[in-house]
Amino acid sequence: MKKKIPVDHHLLFCTGNKCMGKGSEDLKILAQNIRDQSPDLSTLLVTKMGCLKQCESGPMVALYPEGCWFSDMNTSRTVKLLDQIREGQPPLPENLFFVLENAD
Ligand code: FES
Repeated sequence: MKKKIPVDHHLLFCTGNKCMGKGSEDLKILAQNIRDQSPDLSTLLVTKMGCLKQCESGPMVALYPEGCWFSDMNTSRTVKLLDQIREGQPPLPENLFFVLENAD
């Protein structure tokens, strides 16, 4: 039997070498702390991932199911992104690097 995990959004922080050098691990910890203290973000999963191959534009963050990738993330942008997820607003348009689309 499959285990079901209640997740509405998945936020992934690149922890490749270049993004790590620009503080991505601290941004991930910040996002986890905000999520942990916000009951209305209880269905947000925060994880890290390997290099997203956009190293010069990092720290990179990806949000699913939206398929949005964000560049040049920092503390204030991370806080703002979580606020927008919480409020159901379009996420961080000013740092939107691209949106993944179906290849069909
Ligand atoms: S290290 Fe983050 S995109 Fe490559």
